[in-house]
Amino acid sequence: MNRDEQQKKLIHLTVNGETCSLHVEPHWTLSKVLRNDCGHTGTKEGCGEGACGSCTVLIDSVAVPACMILAVEQEGKDIETIEGLSKDGNLHPIQEAWLEEYGSQCGFCSPGMIMSTKALLLKNASPTDDEIKEALGGNICICSNYEHIINAVRSAAKKMAKEQI
Ligand code: FES
Ligand code: FES
Repeated sequence: MNRDEQQKKLIHLTVNGETCSLHVEPHWTLSKVLRNDCGHTGTKEGCGEGACGSCTVLIDSVAVPACMILAVEQEGKDIETIEGLSKDGNLHPIQEAWLEEYGSQCGFCSPGMIMSTKALLLKNASPTDDEIKEALGGNICICSNYEHIINAVRSAAKKMAKEQI
């Protein structure tokens, strides 16, 4: 066993309600582990330094950049990625809104934007445009598709209120 192998620790993460058990090095980020070891490549990694929001996931219902937190510290927490949104083959209302309102162009920012939107709508079911802009302030869209994205969040809020999600 080399030195890196010796440093690894067995952890059990709860991702979208399922357990992902793996050996991690202490410095591995959650985004790296989700993508490389737990098979959740829907979580994108752009900047890798907390500046773009593409890696946003929910941890205990709070939106966080997964590239900025250590996987080894996430045991016992409820981690939700974009893959956890659809149920039984049905898109989540936020995903439906994204499709209908053309919230994606290249789509790279979409998983992070959608997870930030879910965190927002969990605590504020009817956000104002300013509140939407503030909640998505950490998410960058290189395609500059912001107008459609804000429309998608407005539409998602209405859909979720209707379906009482
Ligand atoms: S990849 Fe995490 S914030 Fe950019
Ligand atoms: S749709 Fe391309 S980065 Fe947002």
